[in-house]
Amino acid sequence: MCGIVGYIGKKQAAPILLDGLSKLEYRGYDSAGMAVFDGENIKIEKTPGRLKVLEETTHGGELMPGMIGIGHTRWATHGVPSTENAHPHFNASRSIAVVHNGIIENYIKLKEKMIKRGYKFVSDTDTEVLAHMLDYYYKGDPVEAIIKVMHRVEGSYALGIIFTDCPDDVFAVRKDSPLVIGKGEGENFIASDVPAILKYTRNVYYIQNEEIAKIGTDKIEFFNIDAEPIEKELHRVEWDMNAAEKGGYEFFMMKEMMEQPKVIRDTFTPHIKNNEIVFDELKDADIDFSKLTSLHIVACGSAYHAGFTGKYVIEKMARVPVYVDLASEFRYRNPILGEGDVVVLISQSGETADTKAAIGEAKAKGAKTIAIVNAKGSSMTREADYTIYTEAGPEISVATTKAYSAQLIILYMLAIKLAEEKGTLKEDEKKQLISDLLRLPEQVEMVLNNKERIQKFANRYIAAKDIFFIGRGIDYAIAIEGALKLKEISYIHAEAYAAGELKHGTISLIEENTLVNAVLTQEDLYDKTISNIREVKSRGAFVMAVTNLGHTKIEEVADYVVYIPETNKYFTNTLAIIPLQLFGYFVSAGKGYDVDHPRNLAKSVTVE
Ligand code: F6R
Repeated sequence: MCGIVGYIGKKQAAPILLDGLSKLEYRGYDSAGMAVFDGENIKIEKTPGRLKVLEETTHGGELMPGMIGIGHTRWATHGVPSTENAHPHFNASRSIAVVHNGIIENYIKLKEKMIKRGYKFVSDTDTEVLAHMLDYYYKGDPVEAIIKVMHRVEGSYALGIIFTDCPDDVFAVRKDSPLVIGKGEGENFIASDVPAILKYTRNVYYIQNEEIAKIGTDKIEFFNIDAEPIEKELHRVEWDMNAAEKGGYEFFMMKEMMEQPKVIRDTFTPHIKNNEIVFDELKDADIDFSKLTSLHIVACGSAYHAGFTGKYVIEKMARVPVYVDLASEFRYRNPILGEGDVVVLISQSGETADTKAAIGEAKAKGAKTIAIVNAKGSSMTREADYTIYTEAGPEISVATTKAYSAQLIILYMLAIKLAEEKGTLKEDEKKQLISDLLRLPEQVEMVLNNKERIQKFANRYIAAKDIFFIGRGIDYAIAIEGALKLKEISYIHAEAYAAGELKHGTISLIEENTLVNAVLTQEDLYDKTISNIREVKSRGAFVMAVTNLGHTKIEEVADYVVYIPETNKYFTNTLAIIPLQLFGYFVSAGKGYDVDHPRNLAKSVTVE
């Protein structure tokens, strides 16, 4: 969602802000703005549209001299994308400027109060109320004013603030929205996400909820909500800049798909020791897996789809019932949970508002929570009882690929661990599973090497209106992720159906030449899905099938076949999703779309 960058130092702030904001473009935005303080006045420039427009109107930042500044990319929530609604927002005398990520839930009430106090509003945003409140409560001490505002607002926020009265500091504060502070040499930074500042520093402080940072050129101070100074640990970011750069690929999504063999290896390596699956993160956990009678998995979007695969794998392998929920549903349906229950939350960003809220809901009911998260130090890693990291590195493309693949790997290993504890897995079966797991990276690479063939096929479907995805069991879980990959970046209507469900309604949508992508990786279900393929074919569909190498019988029914290397029945998703990711990518790129930044979407959904 919105991106924040702030700078204070000895260089010109505006070009650094523009550069930092460009690294946050992946988060999704529809307008951009900057405020730069030259020691006397705060100059503000903002505009709807791409960051390029802001770059042009400010001549790359040259027209905004000053060594202190805050910048913002906005993803509209309250009010349309427009100059007035873009951030920064400011008070009437322009002595205070604010950028905000999050939502102030009680802003209407607060706005009415401020209007009664004589304040005039020029935007429709919830953020503007913060600028006027800071003005109202500021009596010479910015930290005191910020705390007074914090006590009165409800909702989520990450804020960057400058005051003309404090020419030596930028202020930052957060609650339920991500924000990091970067510590440089004679310069310091704030940012919603590390890639924005990685070019300048690797040393970061992760500020926690309701902590305030006062950031000078050479000094950073932290306070709690009682204005008491607090100490914070400095962290070093280990991944390198290349991880956040395109590295020669046209889009991050392609780069990230190509990284999947490495990501899979990096994710399983810490958990395989002496041919055993180990989770050191759960070593001291107060959970007896051998007694577990059910498991809950909660997530959003693709992470939910990974969890859905997890259900099939865990239930088959460990014979434990698994309930998979969308976080946005789970949190409001008063889920039946209690002590002894375990809830697994899955998230790439670790900041998704609904998944985060689900942690609170599960914990409040006495359940133990295990977060499977990619972003180090993110909110969920602090809120869940236990965290297992996926090792996908920074994922920039809005459409997830490598983080999803890494989530599957953790789920496979959890399934093996659970099955072991439950006694549903023989020793030789376990050995075979681990050896199959170890082969996955090179098998994924083999599928990726076939990408040109998928591209040729995808080019034929650039003008398609509807595309269907079908499968049974794990293949259905693969189909729903395949459909999401296609629709979110190509804007083609795509639906996934459990293959047996088609004739209960959906089959009426099949017309001459409608593309149906069928997934068949589960041997015991081949014949069932083949019957469903025959049903759509006899209504005119064109069928692409993704199936296991050796299953040549499929060629009797499907029009186009993509084979994946042979693995065991539990891990087929990891291989079968690759052609579907590639298909979505090539349709989108073929249409000339900005694959990494699909319209209306944000990378990290920090509002519900
Ligand atoms: C789709 C996609 C989203 C995310 C979802 C959850 O390609 O990326 O559906 O999977 O928004 O995000 P995280 O994993 O950050 O909680």
